[in-house]
Formats: sequence, structure tokens, C-alpha cells
Amino acid sequence: MSPPPPLPLVPNVAIVGATGAVGRELLELMTERVVPHGMLRLLASSRSAGTTLPYCGTEVPVEDADAASFDDVDVVIVSAGGDTARRLAPRALEAGAFVIDNSSAFRMDPAAALVVPEVNPEALPDPAGPPRIVANPNCSTIIALLALTPIHRAFGVQRVVAATYQAASGGGAALVAELEAQARAWAAGEAPPMEVCGRPYVFNVFSHDSPVGPDGTNEEEAKLRRETRRLWNAPDLPVSATCVRVPTRRSHLVALHAWLETEATEDELRAVLEAAPGVTLLDDRAANRFPEPVLAAGGDDVLVGRIRRDPEQDDPGGSGHAVALLACGDQLRKGAALNAIQILEAMLGRAGAGTSASTSETAAGAGPGT
Ligand code: A2P
Repeated sequence: MSPPPPLPLVPNVAIVGATGAVGRELLELMTERVVPHGMLRLLASSRSAGTTLPYCGTEVPVEDADAASFDDVDVVIVSAGGDTARRLAPRALEAGAFVIDNSSAFRMDPAAALVVPEVNPEALPDPAGPPRIVANPNCSTIIALLALTPIHRAFGVQRVVAATYQAASGGGAALVAELEAQARAWAAGEAPPMEVCGRPYVFNVFSHDSPVGPDGTNEEEAKLRRETRRLWNAPDLPVSATCVRVPTRRSHLVALHAWLETEATEDELRAVLEAAPGVTLLDDRAANRFPEPVLAAGGDDVLVGRIRRDPEQDDPGGSGHAVALLACGDQLRKGAALNAIQILEAMLGRAGAGTSASTSETAAGAGPGT
């Protein structure tokens, strides 16, 4: 079998799940960041085939992903759930395309890379591959690690405990629509629709809507543990999480406790976070202004604040210096679509690095670098 083709500097791109919450964000980011691409194919379920989506001032037709061919596509970004990814990724690979997948289908697969460009850029594959699949981590994991990785690099994180406050956007466009419909129904004194959520969602919080395993850990909590371990290459790192859905629209907040190998003052923690890519410090004790979902929504950076040393929780014997903080990021952007686009940009930057200076500048110029 001949080796797959290297990634061209101006790739033909297909987006599977283009009609979904993350898919629409991907389209917005492609325009906003001027991602270089040739042909753009928009794919979704057969339900959406024949509809159109606006892109760069035109209406692009949506095709049935199952009926589509990937023969003329260089990069397939999949944001349509694990089952669709498992069904379509092999077809895309067979056609010679790179796959960037937003689902959990390939995150722990040794034949795929798991990448957050600010966290483990070294794991990005060579543009000629293998691997030909790059998985986008879970949204809460991305947001937590944008805050924890600079601290880990400077002071060595030995242990993590997280509590998430996750928005409706993580459950897809239908859950956001139901949250809004429940709010309207409440204001009108009507019975709330509960087809998607199965319970009242406005004025309520509930344990994350993913399956609970025999040890009581739900799937979202398990993802936070195993993906953190893989991204940091720390297979034994203790990571415990409690994941909860809250009635916000589109940004996840994560409360973090971490135990550090080297003691750090609050000012030292603030200094490493201030210098970290993709992080904006919001830590104003006097004004009581800290990360909030409405402040993170629509933005690219993860907001980090409420940075505290927590000596009462220090491990006995002087090891394990406890710190606490809040991280909040837009689940649809850095938690999903933006990370996928940054992976594509970084890959194009690498593809350009092996070619002439002028083409390399064109490709790298479109991206943020890592
Ligand atoms: P469709 O809109 O046609 O259902 P969200 O996460 O916001 O719920 O979006 C899920 C995305 O995945 C949508 O674009 C949806 O398309 C797409 N999708 C769902 N099922 C399939 C499928 N079997 N094949 C391709 N795309 C799918």
C-alpha cells in the first residue's frame, strides 16, 4: 500500500456535524481566523441533507455524511458524536485524509494523538503521519488543563481534585434549545418541555448526564482522569472529579484543587498563569471579580482566578502543597471547536515548515502557533 499523501498547505476540508453546536462554531472560527482551505464540504445526518449553512457570505449545501465520498478531501473534522466518528473515520482515512475528531471515540487509542496545543504540542503528528487521527480532548479536561499545565510545569502537580459546573452546550444544540424553551415556559407560567433533558433544567443542577460505572464514577469524570493522565504523560496521577450540569448556556466552570511538589506563593502562581498562552487572569479579590461563564462565553481564552494557597489541605510531612483555583472557558470554543482549529493550524504550520520560506509563512501566518 502506498503511503498516505502529506497534508497540503491549503487543504480541502470537510466538517462532519456542521449543523451542530460545535459545527457552527467551527465555521465561525474558520472565517474569523482565516484558516487556509480549498474546497469546504459540510456534512451532517440525512435529516439535514439538502439544507444550507451560511459561510463567508454564501450558502453552502449540507450533504448526508453517510452518502458522501472523502476522495477529494485532505482534512475531515468530525463533531458528530462517537458512533458517527467510529463509522466515518475509517472511510476518511482510507481516502487518505487526516481526521480531527471531537468525540471520545479515539482519545485513548494509541493509534491516535490526543492534543491540546498549549499543553502537549509535542504530541502533534508529523503532517505526513502516522498517526492520521488527532483526537480533541473532553471539554472540561481542556479547560482544566489550560489552567493547571503552567502550574504543573513550574511547580509539579502531584494530585488533582476537580468539580465541574457544565453548561447546556456540552449536551449539544438540542439541550441548549430545551434550556431556553424551559426558561420561556417558566416565564409564561407553562409546563416546561423535557424531551431532551428529562427533568426540569432551569433553576436546577444535576449530576452529569453520562453513564455511571460500577465504581460510581460517571463517564465525564472518568474522561477527566484518563485524558489528563495521557495529555501529561502521567499514567499514575491521581485525578478525582465530580461533574455536574448547571443551567448556563455555553461555558464550563471548573473548581480545582491541586497538590504541588514545590511550594508556590499566590503571586508566583499568578505570574506563571499570567504568562501562559490561552489563559486570561481574572483574580480581583477587592472587586470580587473572578471567572464566570458569561464572561468566558464567546472568548478564546480560559479565565483563571480565585487563586489561593490552601495550607490546611497540605499533605503531612511537607510534601503536597495545596492550591485552589477556578477555571472557566467557552465549551464550544476552546473546549471543542477552537482546539480542533488550533490543531489544524498547527499541522498546517508544520506542513509549511518543510517547504519554501514563503509558503511556510502563508500557512503559519494564519495560525496562533503553539
Ligand atoms: P443533524 O443536524 O443533521 O442531526 P449537536 O452536538 O449540537 O447535537 O450536533 C450534532 C451534529 O452531529 C449535528 O450536525 C448532527 O446533524 C450530526 N449528526 C448526528 N447524527 C449523525 C449521523 N448519523 N451522521 C452524520 N452526522 C450526524
